[in-house]
Amino acid sequence: MVDRRVAMRGAWTVAQQRSQHWYGGDDRNAFIHRAWMRRGLPDDAFDGRPHIAIANTASDLTPCNSHLDEIATSVKQGVWEAGGVPLNLPMVSLGETQMRPTAMLWRNMAAMAAEELLRANPVDAVVLLGGCDKTIPALLMAAASVDLPAVVVPGGPMLTGTFRGAPLGCGTDVWRLSEEVRAGTLAREDFLASESAMIRSRGHCNTMGTASTMACLSEALGMTLPGVAGTPAPDSRLLVMAQHSGRLAVELAAAQRRPSTVLTRGSFRNAIVALAALGGSTNAVVHLLAIAGRLGVELTLDDFDRTGSGVPLLVDLHPAGRSLMEDFHRAGGMLAVLAQVRDLLDPQALTVTGRTLVDHLEDAVTWDPTVIRPREEPLQSDAGIAVLRGNLAPDGAVVKPAAASAHLLRHRGRAVVFDSVEDLKARLDDPGLDVDEGCVLVLRGCGPRGYPGMPEVANLPLPERLLAKGVRDMVRVSDGRMSGTAYGTVVLHAAPEAAVGGPLALVRDGDPVVLDVPARRLDVDVPAADWARREPAEAMLASLAAPTRGWERLYVDHVMQADRGADLDFLVGSSGDGVIRESH
Ligand code: FES
Repeated sequence: MVDRRVAMRGAWTVAQQRSQHWYGGDDRNAFIHRAWMRRGLPDDAFDGRPHIAIANTASDLTPCNSHLDEIATSVKQGVWEAGGVPLNLPMVSLGETQMRPTAMLWRNMAAMAAEELLRANPVDAVVLLGGCDKTIPALLMAAASVDLPAVVVPGGPMLTGTFRGAPLGCGTDVWRLSEEVRAGTLAREDFLASESAMIRSRGHCNTMGTASTMACLSEALGMTLPGVAGTPAPDSRLLVMAQHSGRLAVELAAAQRRPSTVLTRGSFRNAIVALAALGGSTNAVVHLLAIAGRLGVELTLDDFDRTGSGVPLLVDLHPAGRSLMEDFHRAGGMLAVLAQVRDLLDPQALTVTGRTLVDHLEDAVTWDPTVIRPREEPLQSDAGIAVLRGNLAPDGAVVKPAAASAHLLRHRGRAVVFDSVEDLKARLDDPGLDVDEGCVLVLRGCGPRGYPGMPEVANLPLPERLLAKGVRDMVRVSDGRMSGTAYGTVVLHAAPEAAVGGPLALVRDGDPVVLDVPARRLDVDVPAADWARREPAEAMLASLAAPTRGWERLYVDHVMQADRGADLDFLVGSSGDGVIRESH
């Protein structure tokens, strides 16, 4: 048997490898652990070489991730080449478009399952394979909690589909075209004809939605091989990067380079800068807060505004701009973007390579400045997420100025309130609804606890008769989220949410709502004495779900508000990779 104190195998020290707590030694337990794993593995698979888990979110019901098994094969090849042992580890997979009531309800469950599986099994490092919106955040939350050496391989966006000669941005164009149907400017048959052209290939949404954003931010955080984010899913270079990531995972196990050394306050700062320059999804706010929470890194909602608000928007991509992810990759990808804002990045922040992020920007080139703008010619000068406070959101709300209408960023309008999504659907197009383009549409009961799961419904559609008049944006306010592919002057994540007694629960039709993004305010202009007497709306309370069992019950009992990343309260903080008890 191996003497774990002294033996060296290649670059790694046997004693370092936690898998040796299972496989090292000559007792009955080690016998059992080795024997059941043999099935083709040679003797030297147990000699102390790193065992690398491939946390794989492939699933036919997560169509954006259905190709990940092929990527896993390339990762495996890389792990073998570097002298490690690759092990496929299927993960809970969340398909954004398929799951009801919302995939976000299970992000924390997926993260918890991944954390526990990684901790419970004899693995020394992990390659994280994700793509669709919640999958990369859940894997990063898990990796942060268990703090095993880890590297992300994003599954990549799909290629650009075209319809009748024009490119289609998936997500963004669904919202746009469906509104055109409601406005009467597009025939329903034409809308339906675009359906088969929307998804051209394997991969996740090709806009700068949540999946693309979280892949890019994984790179900005230092958790991927530099240059991989945005590589289209069918591009053979992604398989090469996956292979290199497999090799790197073995190196990470040898170097004991863990997420806690990569994911520092500096790397989160870099991610916030990148989020602004990309015009990325507002969902990144809740995901980054949750990941930071798992590590005990101090990150607050206000950091997004402080760090990101002065950062220029450089990437001309849907939903804030015109291009799609295939163009982004061709134009130079993340490295080109980061090079433009290099002076704003933390120079100390490390990546999984062991070098700093800024070190990797030396040779970055922008190949198409119409897609990735030079710093001196931004699409917008102050593009980051704006964090609003006021008597409608004492703990904060967010708005993405890059996706909003400039003329609505300062606005006063009377509230038209919906108590639930069902209420919205029932009344929005009612000819009797008293609404005009100056109104502020309020949708409540859609926060983490209320819905439950904080769904992407906050970009509520506009009333049909206003669309027919040519109105394409109105101020909307909600405690829910919106899809990263959506756009509009939408104030999101209002905290605390209405369901836990947040002030949105008190708003009534006709109340004047005042949005002032430059001043970072969101208020209702109701006399204080009147406001103090208000009670939460009965109809909203009646619409709230009250789960009695299972995950939903656990979630509702423990989920925190959006300003804390909507994680479960008992999952905050890292637990590490230690397992104290034997199984036999
Ligand atoms: Fe999966 Fe958009 S639905 S990334």
